[in-house]
Amino acid sequence: MYRSHTCGDLRVAHNNQEVILSGWVQGIRDKGFMIYVDLRDRYGITQLYFDEESTPKDIITKAQKLGREFVVQVKGKVVERASKNPNIPTGDIEVLVTELTVLNNAQVPPFTIEDKTDGGEDIRMKYRYLDIRRNPVKNNLIFRHKVAMEVRKFLSDGGFIEVETPYLIKSTPEGARDFVVPSRMNEGQFYALPQSPQTFKQLLMVGGMDKYFQIVKCFRDEDLRADRQPEFTQIDCEMAFVEQEDILNVFENLTKHLLKEINGVEIENFPRMTYDDAMRKYGNDKPDIRFGMEFGELNEVAQHKEFGVFNDAELVVGIAVPGAASYTRKELDALVNWVKRPQVGAKGMVYAKCNEDGSFKSTVDKFYDQDDIANWAKITGSKPGDLICVLSGDANKTRAQLSALRMELAERLNLRNPKEFAPLWVIDFPLLELDEETGHYHAMHHPFTSPKPGQLELLDTDPGAVKANAYDLVLNGNEIGGGSIRIHDKEMQATMFKHLGFTPEEAKAQFGFLMDAFQYGAPPHGGLAFGLDRLVSILGGQETIRDFIAFPKNNSGRDVMIDAPAFIDDDQLKELSLKLNIQE
Ligand code: AMO
Repeated sequence: MYRSHTCGDLRVAHNNQEVILSGWVQGIRDKGFMIYVDLRDRYGITQLYFDEESTPKDIITKAQKLGREFVVQVKGKVVERASKNPNIPTGDIEVLVTELTVLNNAQVPPFTIEDKTDGGEDIRMKYRYLDIRRNPVKNNLIFRHKVAMEVRKFLSDGGFIEVETPYLIKSTPEGARDFVVPSRMNEGQFYALPQSPQTFKQLLMVGGMDKYFQIVKCFRDEDLRADRQPEFTQIDCEMAFVEQEDILNVFENLTKHLLKEINGVEIENFPRMTYDDAMRKYGNDKPDIRFGMEFGELNEVAQHKEFGVFNDAELVVGIAVPGAASYTRKELDALVNWVKRPQVGAKGMVYAKCNEDGSFKSTVDKFYDQDDIANWAKITGSKPGDLICVLSGDANKTRAQLSALRMELAERLNLRNPKEFAPLWVIDFPLLELDEETGHYHAMHHPFTSPKPGQLELLDTDPGAVKANAYDLVLNGNEIGGGSIRIHDKEMQATMFKHLGFTPEEAKAQFGFLMDAFQYGAPPHGGLAFGLDRLVSILGGQETIRDFIAFPKNNSGRDVMIDAPAFIDDDQLKELSLKLNIQE
């Protein structure tokens, strides 16, 4: 028997009991006549001690040779501590060791394995298995497990069946590049790893499964950010015989359930906002509504004066920054430079201080009098003490720039409280999106999303205006889920492919299987998928999904621990009928 208890179990009630513990040596304090060892396992830390008077000499010698992260087993007696440690649950006791077995030695770890570590991100990723011994990482993984269990419980209780779908498939167009896998048995041919199980879950609906879910890995070859990994996990769901309202209700209830069970937070009905309103009010299709700073459109009051920059702009739009009238000239210059960074891309920024005495001081006082600026203040909702920041130019670009500024300022002003949860449904997404580079429309969500009833005609005349039965669930400014009501009619699906620029032959080659299935009694259906990594990290009060993934990839898509991706040898290439063509 390796252990009778874990390192997190023992309390005063165990006083005088003989116990066996196994774990890792977190720290050793040799006081000469007394040696203290902190023994750690997944469940906690227990203080061991070796006492010159009562511990056999050979055990003392062994204890003196222990190093950090040695794996040991000890037998001993639980003793109530004279000076207790209120910081750990086992802090009332210690274990007087009578037997010590070293189960495995350990090299000195490359960083300290404690809550606060001296290891940088790179080294911790290389030795991720050591990082996982630390509470912050370990607890995130346990947290993720809890969320996943609650999800499974809720959906299973609601009649959803978890069905696994294949990973070696043909491309599913979710908008990113595919990761592909060469097939040895089919020379020159490739599987694609699923960007999502989208087409399979629709086929499950044709198959009559009615309510499907799957906690499933998805693969997307796209640029990585804090909230994106090349392989990530979805809670993928689909239902038959439902309308948008049914889906929103089911998954709003799932989210409420998680907020309650995991975070102890009860939220009434989730607000809903159309895509158009989200863009107009926040310049963003995933607005963080934990704080205000709503956009105020100023065209009417700021144009037709002498200020050419605003007169020439498609949109003049501002926000009120609470309390920022007190910013110094230096701080304001820095803010202007911030919006001018290439990542944001504004040409400049006009600002106006709303002084406590009700007067205003702006960078454009030459063109606007106090009444003009008072109008800006009214429209942006600025109060005395606030700063009005105004950007102008092309409508879409300006909104995106002001949205970036809004989020940056909210961060600086600590308005993004991770303990507060503000869910929001964004609905009525456009069906299509214009690709500025190619001039072609592509599906904003994916090609299986249905247009809103009665909008099909618009596809020919004004494709950008067609709205879809598509929705996203946003939590604290992050898109945690998205879905749609699908097309379930072969003809309509063919029309959609046509509008997306597929020839009938291309559509048949890529998605013939789905359109075939639609001929055999496809029920009306729809669904959504949550990003589990994102959901978990936000419920956990953070926004970096890497911290909630056991073995994540770095920003170049590498696993630095196993050193992947890697070259394969020539034999393997040959077997796969592949030839590399790398320029030296
Ligand atoms: P979508 O592409 O919106 O929809 O993806 C669903 C959710 O998955 C999460 N997500 C990601 N998380 C981490 N890293 C990534 N690279 C990444 N990409 C997406 C997001 C997103 O909201 N088949 C459809 C769903 C449907 O229509 O039912 C789909 O995949 O949280």
